[in-house]
Amino acid sequence: MAKAFDMVLFGGGGDLSLRKLIPALYRAYKEGGLNKDTRILPVCRKQEDADAYLKTAQQALKTHLRDGEYDEKSWKAFSPLLRGVALDISKPDEKWDVLADLLGNDPKRVRLFYLAIPPAVFGPCCENLSVKGLIHENSRVVVEKPLGYNAKTADEINSKIAEFFPEENIFRIDHYLGKETVQNLLALRFSNVLFEHLWDAKTIDHIQISISETVGLEGRAGFYDDTGALRDMVQNHLLQLLCLIAMESPNSMSARNIRSEKIKVLEALRPLTDEKVDENIVRGQYVAGGLGKELVPGYLEELKAANSTTETFVAIRAHIDNWRWTGVPFYLRTGKRMEKRCAEIVIQYKKVSHSVYQPEAGEVLPNRLVIRLQPEESIKMVLMAKKMDSLTMELQPVELNLSLSETYDSFKSDAYKRLMLDAAANNSALFIHRDEVAAAWAWVDPIIDRWRETSNQPQLYRAGTWGPQASNELLAESGHHWFNP
Ligand code: BG6
Repeated sequence: MAKAFDMVLFGGGGDLSLRKLIPALYRAYKEGGLNKDTRILPVCRKQEDADAYLKTAQQALKTHLRDGEYDEKSWKAFSPLLRGVALDISKPDEKWDVLADLLGNDPKRVRLFYLAIPPAVFGPCCENLSVKGLIHENSRVVVEKPLGYNAKTADEINSKIAEFFPEENIFRIDHYLGKETVQNLLALRFSNVLFEHLWDAKTIDHIQISISETVGLEGRAGFYDDTGALRDMVQNHLLQLLCLIAMESPNSMSARNIRSEKIKVLEALRPLTDEKVDENIVRGQYVAGGLGKELVPGYLEELKAANSTTETFVAIRAHIDNWRWTGVPFYLRTGKRMEKRCAEIVIQYKKVSHSVYQPEAGEVLPNRLVIRLQPEESIKMVLMAKKMDSLTMELQPVELNLSLSETYDSFKSDAYKRLMLDAAANNSALFIHRDEVAAAWAWVDPIIDRWRETSNQPQLYRAGTWGPQASNELLAESGHHWFNP
């Protein structure tokens, strides 16, 4: 159980807080991960919202928790931890004194300032915390993406925060790193002798990392249209997953060691510039289509705009130019309004060098390791075996399957819960260092520049499909195809 700490949740009434953070804290409490002396202080702009916070939070839990997770007894026990505070984060007025009084002045007690607010107000918020003397030696700040719009703006944001907090007290969240299977990926790689020898260009043919979503704009039209899939998903989640798959073994699981290995991967990514962008990336935007039984509108209709060239889909062929990975394509793909919601990493091995079987045995298919992050979490190895009960030697693929949700009865992962408790415990291994943010933008920026310079038009795909046909062609050029779930 984490020691009692204080969490000031700026943007307490916002979407992220109500949908993810408050439910994650409730879960943590219910599962015994939060000390009852912990205080959660959601900050709202208006006094009436702060006064009504308990009601708002209770409603959010009922709406956003999974079936059966909410119960009155746990709510009664959890709710005294919560207390809404009203203040305008950009004004250094006397309302901050209420927060200061609530926090008290015990320098040993951990303070987490969670900035679930737009980056434009990070600066004033941190400044006011500092002016009001609320930052002490055990204060940490937790920030969320979007961390900037490109390398320059990311650097400005990071420099602003750095005026008030040292790097070791800045916790940059990428919630994908809090997902259980992502951590399991590290366990798989670095606590089994089996994989290390089979984890390079000699044995692996190619790797696919795909995050498909069925949702569209979800009321975030303004934000999304300025952002697009490359900035929203690739710059952070997909590149982080790529780092964990491709990095060398860290000397230890310390934050410093893990981060320095991840940075090496980002720096070894082959730059995609000029015509290389056109050759290796497919950009798409959805139009109306059938998703399950529902007919959903296209991007422009959802946006209520006559035109926009923002991408809602992107597929990339990337390469890592280092000793281990040279020649292995890494295919990255993400999109909204796709056929299924799924996040999956597929490691496709090479074929055996020579088949010893007669043609009747069938093709000896290459092995495949499939790490699924969602909707359910599992790790699956596809192997070749003899077909059962067949009198002749016939081969068929079989699956070695570790399903986390089936294996562990009470398995309920929650990335935010894990990350908030890690921040409280000062464990930053699953958080992003400033240099990683910079390295990821350094790879992404030239792609965006090229699209802008060439006025690139996204290829249209029907909602409820796997993206534009060009995405299949991108893989087909190298004799590959997407493994759609
Ligand atoms: C967020 C993106 O970072 O991740 C969203 O801004 C996206 O656009 C979301 O929907 C996906 O997260 P998850 O955990 O639902 O796959």
